[in-house]
Amino acid sequence: MNTIDIRVSAHSFQEDELRDKVVVMIDVLRASSTIVTALQNGAKGVIPVQDMDAAGRISQNLDSPNFMLCGEKDGQKIEGYDLGNSPFEYSTEAVKDKTIIFKTSNGTKALKRSTMGKEILVGCFLNLETVTNRLKEVDQEIVIVCAGWRGHLSLEDLLCAGKIISDLNGGTLQEDAPDGTKVAFGLYEKFGNDIERTLRNSNHAKRLADITENDDIGFCSRLNVMQILPTLKEGIITNANVKE
Ligand code: MLT
Repeated sequence: MNTIDIRVSAHSFQEDELRDKVVVMIDVLRASSTIVTALQNGAKGVIPVQDMDAAGRISQNLDSPNFMLCGEKDGQKIEGYDLGNSPFEYSTEAVKDKTIIFKTSNGTKALKRSTMGKEILVGCFLNLETVTNRLKEVDQEIVIVCAGWRGHLSLEDLLCAGKIISDLNGGTLQEDAPDGTKVAFGLYEKFGNDIERTLRNSNHAKRLADITENDDIGFCSRLNVMQILPTLKEGIITNANVKE
């Protein structure tokens, strides 16, 4: 079994630490879940950007109805953008055949800071099994980058990392696992029997409570409902799961 380590937020590592590793970026609430849903519903690809300036620059050069400018600030749709960051907005009618320029507070930053990785995947509960199956095939060291929130860890990201670690190791943990891996595994052992309840009790669920119209938490709590393997390559995330 390959070494598997984790980072607890988008800012908890030096970019060079990820060089040549297989990276899984997790932002359960909600960037990863929204990316997976967009690809599931036929989006051509998602271009993650660090901030609104970068989003603006890219969109200015693309005068095409096939591109959409999407994302959030403080959880809410940015004025003038096509869509926010609720997976419910990314229906087939909205995103089929579109390329999405995507800016979020922590998730897309974590992705932009992960580009030294040899392979960069996006994971969440919705596509957990597909990501785990891919990780079983790789030879390199694996690092799970949890997006967290403004430099702090997020329970839901660590829980998802813990389930990936547990599933990769057949429900056990190697004795020489790094500290972060042990913590994520332990968290999953304690709270993994009710993913939805754990997510509903997370800090970010409380932040989202007043600003979301739909049940984003319930949506993002569902396990293995989308067989999508979002892979970031040359600046764009596409679905690399050709076995569908
Ligand atoms: C993020 O990138 O921090 C999140 O996806 C924020 C959100 O829930 O909109």
